[in-house]
Amino acid sequence: MSSKPRKKPEELRSHRWYGVNDLRSFGHRSRTAQMGYHRSDYAGKPVIAIINTWSDINPCHSHFRQRAEEVKRGIWQAGGFPVEMPAISLSEPFQKPTTMLYRNLLAMETEELLRGYPADGCVLMGGCDKTTPALIMGALSMNLPTIFVPAGPMLRGDFKGEFLGSGSDTWKYWAELRAGNITEEEWKGVEDGIARSPGHCMTMGTASTMTSATEAMGLTLPGAASIPAPDSRHAQMATLTGKRIVDMVWEDLCIRDIVDARAIDNAVITALALGGSTNAVVHMIALARRAGVALDLARFDALARKTPVLANVRPSGKYLMEDFFYAGGLRAMLAQLTDLLDGKAMTVNGHTLSENIRGAVTYNDDVIRPRSNPLVDSDGLAVLRGNLAPDGAVIKPAAMEAHLQKHTGRAVVFKDYNDMAARIDDAALDVDKDSVIVMQSGGPQGAPGMPEWGQLPIPKKLLQQGVRDMLRISDARMSGTSYGACVLHVAPESHIGGPLALVRDGDLIELDVANRKLELKISEAELATRRAAWTAPKPHYNRGFGVLYLKHIKQANEGCDFDFLEEGASDAKTLDPEIH
Ligand code: FES
Repeated sequence: MSSKPRKKPEELRSHRWYGVNDLRSFGHRSRTAQMGYHRSDYAGKPVIAIINTWSDINPCHSHFRQRAEEVKRGIWQAGGFPVEMPAISLSEPFQKPTTMLYRNLLAMETEELLRGYPADGCVLMGGCDKTTPALIMGALSMNLPTIFVPAGPMLRGDFKGEFLGSGSDTWKYWAELRAGNITEEEWKGVEDGIARSPGHCMTMGTASTMTSATEAMGLTLPGAASIPAPDSRHAQMATLTGKRIVDMVWEDLCIRDIVDARAIDNAVITALALGGSTNAVVHMIALARRAGVALDLARFDALARKTPVLANVRPSGKYLMEDFFYAGGLRAMLAQLTDLLDGKAMTVNGHTLSENIRGAVTYNDDVIRPRSNPLVDSDGLAVLRGNLAPDGAVIKPAAMEAHLQKHTGRAVVFKDYNDMAARIDDAALDVDKDSVIVMQSGGPQGAPGMPEWGQLPIPKKLLQQGVRDMLRISDARMSGTSYGACVLHVAPESHIGGPLALVRDGDLIELDVANRKLELKISEAELATRRAAWTAPKPHYNRGFGVLYLKHIKQANEGCDFDFLEEGASDAKTLDPEIH
């Protein structure tokens, strides 16, 4: 429970819109009446903004129209006044060049919707990759009572009686098609069966990682993140969320009362124990900084060294999120990690994390492994440094072939994505299984938007020889549903003159995961000569949102927030608009 005194109706933020007796509030009330509401529907009640990222073009959120109604039902029942506010959806499968270009735009939109309208508290509805961090970043900057409704994973995919996993099996069967091992007809069967219900990707991609981290951070009702989207218990969770947010407003339990350094560490440990997406690194750093917590890559690496991977979920493991739910879900996994987590951290239901996970049972200990039998002992993620990545890079050791963890090979360099796409399958390309594939211009400014290009394809001629993993390096991100020896997020990025820009064909590159090393094996003098000869590429945009983005985007190791948004999160009172 919040230690603050219970709010009185006249202390509600919305009182300044609805409760005072002046010309402007006459306008607010008469226009609310215009929508069919009687004064008794809202007078003296908390106004709850439902920030809904539903869209016709976002299949992961296609159930959110209905779920918003269920959230409203709970709000009405608890004596609140629900107001649904749509926000940009960021649909991972459709938005080009990448949803990452727009994460901060959704964060800004969330913050400004909450600021500009009479919201006393909010329910955030997201799940598809960037929507989760974006909504939370915006809400953190506004600091109202807040609960997150995760979209929930979709059902397992189905193809010829086999379970298919989002993303992971796309890459797998695409490689088999290119290698000539499956037919076009079979490939169409994969297309029809891989995504067969509402909900976000059901592998341990960015969506499952971030919604689970959000639950561990204390921002969902207990157990919410694991419930499959079409399950009736998901609808029940939405209604219970609506009920709870009204009480949170009266208790004045705000999001920044919950998201502190303990909650951030709990979220990072959770992402690591899940064998979660590398994208969580960028998002968690951005989100933590909005909360005034100085999370950095070193903290990620330190936590990774002591956190076992317990979730046997693809791409690191075998199962899918539906199995994870039936095995006990996130609460069951967190109950195995009580010595690493800070159980005193507060959560949205007014109870601590340890109270929420107490008594959670694992029903299948192959899906949720016990501490005595982890999938991987530690290092679900590793932060690399060296002359090729002075500000860091990340790799997911659990999802790569073990023999590549210590590897030296000669570079095969592509100057950007188009160059790579044009030449990677060229039979004349000078590449073998020990080569290191390097792609430049995949970073926050270079791509732009740091797309999920980091799982660089293996050249066709090597696929046909049976090669399924190679060392690959870029300043791009990688889909959390991907796998392979892919060094990602190299910082600083090549587009702004990071050392990745200076690599040439034939250079030797050394990766040593155990020692967290990534080195370009050329002399300092040669590096300096190449740096002096390097010229900065032209910026990608000269108008519109892209200009704002390029001017203010920070590098991957700093979370890719806009510089003007990350520090000094708002005091809602001083930044609230005056009412005229
Ligand atoms: Fe929406 Fe993967 S496409 S979560």
